[in-house]
Amino acid sequence: MKRDFEPVWLALPFPSFVIGADSGILEVNDAAEGFCMLSRKQMRGKALEKFTGIGSAVLDAVMQAQGGMRSVMLHDIEVAWGGQKRGIANVQTTRLGQGEVLLTLHPRSIADKMDRSLSHRHAARSVAGMAAMLAHEIRNPLAGISGAAQLLRSGLGPEDQELTELIEEEATRIGNLVNRVEAFGELGPVVVEPVNIHDIIDRAHRAAAAGFASHIRFKQRFDPSIPPTAGNADQLMQVLINLLKNAAEAMPKGGVITLKTAFRPGVKLSLPGKRRQSLPIEISIKDTGSGISQALMADIFEPFVSSKASGTGLGLSLVSKIMADHGGMVDCKTSENGTEFRLLLPVWKQERP
Ligand SMILES: Nc1ncnc2c1ncn2[C@@H]1O[C@H](COP(=O)(O)OP(=O)(O)OP(=O)(O)O)[C@@H](O)[C@H]1O
Ligand SMILES: [Mg+2]
Repeated sequence: MKRDFEPVWLALPFPSFVIGADSGILEVNDAAEGFCMLSRKQMRGKALEKFTGIGSAVLDAVMQAQGGMRSVMLHDIEVAWGGQKRGIANVQTTRLGQGEVLLTLHPRSIADKMDRSLSHRHAARSVAGMAAMLAHEIRNPLAGISGAAQLLRSGLGPEDQELTELIEEEATRIGNLVNRVEAFGELGPVVVEPVNIHDIIDRAHRAAAAGFASHIRFKQRFDPSIPPTAGNADQLMQVLINLLKNAAEAMPKGGVITLKTAFRPGVKLSLPGKRRQSLPIEISIKDTGSGISQALMADIFEPFVSSKASGTGLGLSLVSKIMADHGGMVDCKTSENGTEFRLLLPVWKQERP
């Protein structure tokens, strides 16, 4: 069934024109009538330059598209129509074939609104939403792939079995990646409770030593005077595990991780956009690895930044997200003798909601 696009064309919110090979105006939509303050009848069949003037940016963009450019976008152009100023707009032209060009104007006020709606909060939310959706959509076919690989394996010789093992391993890796991306979507607002950070550090330490950090020596220097922090134990555990894992991965056998805590009631920080915040609880995780290069250092907290062959680059961005959700912060110092991550957290206060 063929769809009639005429109503769609007329309803498009951006002033749009179809320009013929001879630069005559062939079609005009409703938004264009409003923007130019002229009726369709007054414009159709006339030369574009009659309205835009010779040598205007709009005409230029149309000619570029006619000359073979697929699509041209000019930003913040002062558009005049029939000698009258009509406002600032982004001007886009798209080649349609046979010398015809679609000319669209994106008036600044609309463009500004769209920019604002893409401000980082919304973007973060939509990334989280997309992550959750994608995770959901990937999981089922993935289960199918590894299930099929397992079935295949039983009927194959040892050489081909290696290949089915590879399929299963890689499917597991994709599954793990999906879980970690999904974690961004799941976090939501943190439910805080009084948390003893030494318990959390102990738990993370034991989990690390039994698994990925079995080749590492640990040192602990705890400050016993630390009061409980306001936090979510599971998420703080995740923060520590991610940092310990990075430290362990940065060192060969014999490396040392020093876990240190301190209580500094005097420490007040001015965080961007917030009042001065008191973050007196300090946790430091220090390794004896070879450090982080200066080039990488600026981006380590960005998602998908990794120097590891099989790294997702999500570990540290999750750390910084969780710390921000806690009203705390994380920073990093590095040299060729090792790297130290420092976590700063608020104190639990009874009257908190
Ligand atoms: N303690 C550290 N010593 C040296 N480099 C580090 C350390 N911590 C982080 N990095 C660097 O920062 C990068 C980003 O770390 P992040 O934890 O976000 O991702 P990843 O460890 O590469 O992947 P994933 O955590 O998903 O396994 C790492 O690839 C590594 O290059
Ligand atoms: Mg990591």
